[in-house]
Amino acid sequence: MRSLRFGLPLVSLFTGVALLFTAPAAHAADTPLRDLAAAKGKVIGTAVTGSKLTGTYGDLAGSQFSSLTPGNAMKWGTVEPTQGTFNWTEADQIVAFAQAHGQQVRGHTLVWHSQNPGWLTNGTWTSAQLSSLLQNHISTEVGRYKGKIAAWDVVNEPFNEDGSYRSTLWYNGLGSDYIANALTWAHAADPDAKLYINDYNVEGVNAKSTALYNLVKSLKAAGVPIDGVGLQAHLVLGQVPATLQQNIQRFADLGVDVAITELDVRMALPADSTKLAQQKADFKSVVAACVAVSRCVNVTVWGFTDSDSWVDSTFPGYGAATPYDANYAPKPAYYGISEALGGTTTTPPPTGACTAAYSVSSQWNTGFTGQVTISCSGASLSSWKATWTYGAGQQITQAWNAVCTQSGAAVSCTNASYNGTVADGSSVSFGFNAAWSGSNPVPAVTLSPA
Ligand code: G3I
Repeated sequence: MRSLRFGLPLVSLFTGVALLFTAPAAHAADTPLRDLAAAKGKVIGTAVTGSKLTGTYGDLAGSQFSSLTPGNAMKWGTVEPTQGTFNWTEADQIVAFAQAHGQQVRGHTLVWHSQNPGWLTNGTWTSAQLSSLLQNHISTEVGRYKGKIAAWDVVNEPFNEDGSYRSTLWYNGLGSDYIANALTWAHAADPDAKLYINDYNVEGVNAKSTALYNLVKSLKAAGVPIDGVGLQAHLVLGQVPATLQQNIQRFADLGVDVAITELDVRMALPADSTKLAQQKADFKSVVAACVAVSRCVNVTVWGFTDSDSWVDSTFPGYGAATPYDANYAPKPAYYGISEALGGTTTTPPPTGACTAAYSVSSQWNTGFTGQVTISCSGASLSSWKATWTYGAGQQITQAWNAVCTQSGAAVSCTNASYNGTVADGSSVSFGFNAAWSGSNPVPAVTLSPA
């Protein structure tokens, strides 16, 4: 495809997600997080997607972490999509991977208001039926993995923000007793598994965490098998609660373990070196708070790479929430975790980032003009390649200021001979014309050195 220069009055119609590329560091030389954590008597975990556990994703999941949590594979809607018909494929795969890599598994999650099968949520059940369904579910799933699960998030997200019980299928049908019953049934099915109640926005001392505290206290007083609380820790950049360690300590003082179960720190995109430095500080302070309390046993990140995070689709405009970028390069956040675990890095952490932003500047009934702008802040590039996959049959017909090829839906654009260098603090753009029909969704662009 020929390269030519082209100028248009640019009115951005659609703007794409800017994906991050940080300078790769020689992370292989650094002590793996799981070894650092072990030296502190802690477990470091990540949520995983079973189908991705190969290649670089599998290598990092297996080498850096000592615990895996199935992100979705053990939820009721996944394991029993049709009543009485079970699908354990992904859950079994993750458990087998963990065993092969000497890792714990955190089972997630048995009783939740979300990701339940349609047959369950659409059914009309008496309290007795509901109770029996829940008991069977817990007995079946916990029993299947008996001896293979270190800890279960038995009950997930039972509270509202004000500390009242959340109105759910379970609470509305069974009252708050469902919590004690679920724990008791799980204990019967696997007496060695540690049993947790897990929730979000309970990291600091507040009404919700105090409700959780009071619940755990009463469960312990009643002799109900409760071993720990999970603080999910889906955090916003710069907003680690000041009372995090104090809160962990008060649960520890009740006689239960604490786990940080779903840590991520989201930021407004695009990422830049200032935000990444703040994110490093945030990850570091969360891990340090856990290290400081002996009964805080596990810190688990909710996805270790920005290519496998729930944040981007749930909070449009936010992302870059995990310790590795989408190309598996460790971000400053990775080094924040490492340092909080006592690690000294052999390579200076990357301090900056280059991003690629995709936008459609004009569109007509059969075609459109788009552009991608590559910007660097605290980092630089001497060559670049931007790739994306079109989701609706778009076809590039012409490009300028880059050499673009398209094979099927996959587009790959590398720098022209004259614009491979993107200096710190500068940007370069390239443009293209393309055909579309039906819809023209903005793709996610991945940026890497050419
Ligand atoms: O499996 C289907 C796939 O077949 C379909 O093509 C695709 C299209 O949207 O959806 C896929 O299901 C998605 C599923 O993740 C698996 O990728 C669901 O739409 C999506 O809603 C679901 O999101 C999960 C979310 O829980 C649901 O609330 C996230 O991956 C998962 O990370 C997230 O995890 C929760 C914890 O369990 C509890 N705490 C909060 C945390 C974040 O929401």
